[in-house]
Amino acid sequence: MKIQKICCIGAGYVGGPTCSVIAMQCPDIEVTVVDLSQSRIDEWNSDEHLPIYEPGLKDVVTKCRGKNLFFSTDIDSAIHAADLLFISVNTPTKTFGLGKGRAADLKYIESVARRIAEVVESGEKIVVEKSTVPVRAAESIQRILKANTKPGVSYQVLSNPEFLAEGTAIQDLISPDRVLIGGEQTSGGYKAIDALASIYEHWIPKHKIIKTNTWSSELSKLAANAFLAQRISSINSMSAICEATGADVNEVAHAIGTDSRVGPRFLQASLGFGGSCFQKDVLNLVYLCEALNLPEVAAYWQQVININDFQRRRFATKIISCLFNTVTDKRIGILGFSFKKNTADTRESSSIYVCKYLLDEGAQLVIYDPQVSREQIISDLTHPIISEDPERVERLVTIATDPYKALSGAHALVVCTEWDEFRGYDFQKIYDTMAKPAFAFDGRGILDAEHLLELGFHVEVIGKVVRKNNMIPITPPAEN
Ligand code: NAI
Repeated sequence: MKIQKICCIGAGYVGGPTCSVIAMQCPDIEVTVVDLSQSRIDEWNSDEHLPIYEPGLKDVVTKCRGKNLFFSTDIDSAIHAADLLFISVNTPTKTFGLGKGRAADLKYIESVARRIAEVVESGEKIVVEKSTVPVRAAESIQRILKANTKPGVSYQVLSNPEFLAEGTAIQDLISPDRVLIGGEQTSGGYKAIDALASIYEHWIPKHKIIKTNTWSSELSKLAANAFLAQRISSINSMSAICEATGADVNEVAHAIGTDSRVGPRFLQASLGFGGSCFQKDVLNLVYLCEALNLPEVAAYWQQVININDFQRRRFATKIISCLFNTVTDKRIGILGFSFKKNTADTRESSSIYVCKYLLDEGAQLVIYDPQVSREQIISDLTHPIISEDPERVERLVTIATDPYKALSGAHALVVCTEWDEFRGYDFQKIYDTMAKPAFAFDGRGILDAEHLLELGFHVEVIGKVVRKNNMIPITPPAEN
């Protein structure tokens, strides 16, 4: 089966970049990305401002848009025309009902499946789950489609989870470590898997395309995110030991990462992981284990989340205790609000939680992020699970567009995101304008701690004890 037209439902962080790269690499295929949100689609069609910030994305979109890449809210026409449909809608953690706080909410997936069944009138369609879903979600999609199939229509449902990381999405899509495709182990299933593989084969070597059964593919996505999150929680747990003992977490990470069985990546200690996926997917796995009556396995993975919560709290507590156990009415400059550099995405950002803990103590926060908008920051900090009093948040929080102004008069600067520009600031200039003693809390280990110490800062870094200004000098030996 040769795919000529693709429809992607969901124009978010995954659907937009993924389909833009497919369009770029497959000029013979027409790709239409659709969404319910008119404003999101308008932004995808705008020349000024795409709805997501992702290095390299604009070039790809500009190259293909209007040729073989289209963004639209006409969902039905795009579904109707396509041979292959990607489902890339959001699958957030449920906020109420059974599995609240852990299970994935599949209502958006289900509504898309129902829409496809309603709209498709004829032909063979391949429906691809690109969203991250609990194991056996493809079966639910299949059942909805089968129960509503019109005569002359047939469906194959595939799992093709996305492994891109925000901030490096275009690079990840152009040269992925692997592409995973799961499908039914039947002749129809194999045919559909091959049809999807042939799209990726336009630019990805065949040996990097892994073909599995559907459930292996679905579980592999949850497992991959759980393993990645677990590495971060593992090194973060070590960072707490390092701070208590004088070991340096970077040295420990280097020492263990050079073991080829462990590897060096994802061993950077920090104030905790964020992003829309890790917590959601690990919780999803925990819920799955509970549902499978595997409480020990559930508890094992739950601990990855517990350590992450602990790390965020620990970082905030350190700030408060260093500032003489009170931050009430103290101006504190927060550098970075996105969950990592090179994205404006703030979903589950650790910065939100550190700000929350400081706001709970009555600190006055001045927040600077090179990409995140004021509206987004205020919306995150006034979310009901973060604050019960939005007016108080508005009163205590200022959003700065200039980092130097943000830090002027501040008692402390707090690095929450590892934006490269933070490394190059003039810290002498910053120090001169700050209240004294001036504190620097580096939640990402990106600043030159020795330099800051020389300037007079009190410096705290995750996972290592930095020499303190007020350290008691070693008594020199008596001279004869
Ligand atoms: P997102 O929230 O940025 O985008 C989802 C889009 O789907 C939204 O624009 C929403 O309006 C649209 N949508 C929802 N219901 C719809 C419907 N019935 N019809 C048409 N459009 C609809 O979400 P994101 O980040 O792109 O994630 C999508 C999926 O991909 C999730 O399952 C996520 O876990 C997974 N994923 C996300 C990654 C990331 O880095 N953000 C990486 C890998 C997987």
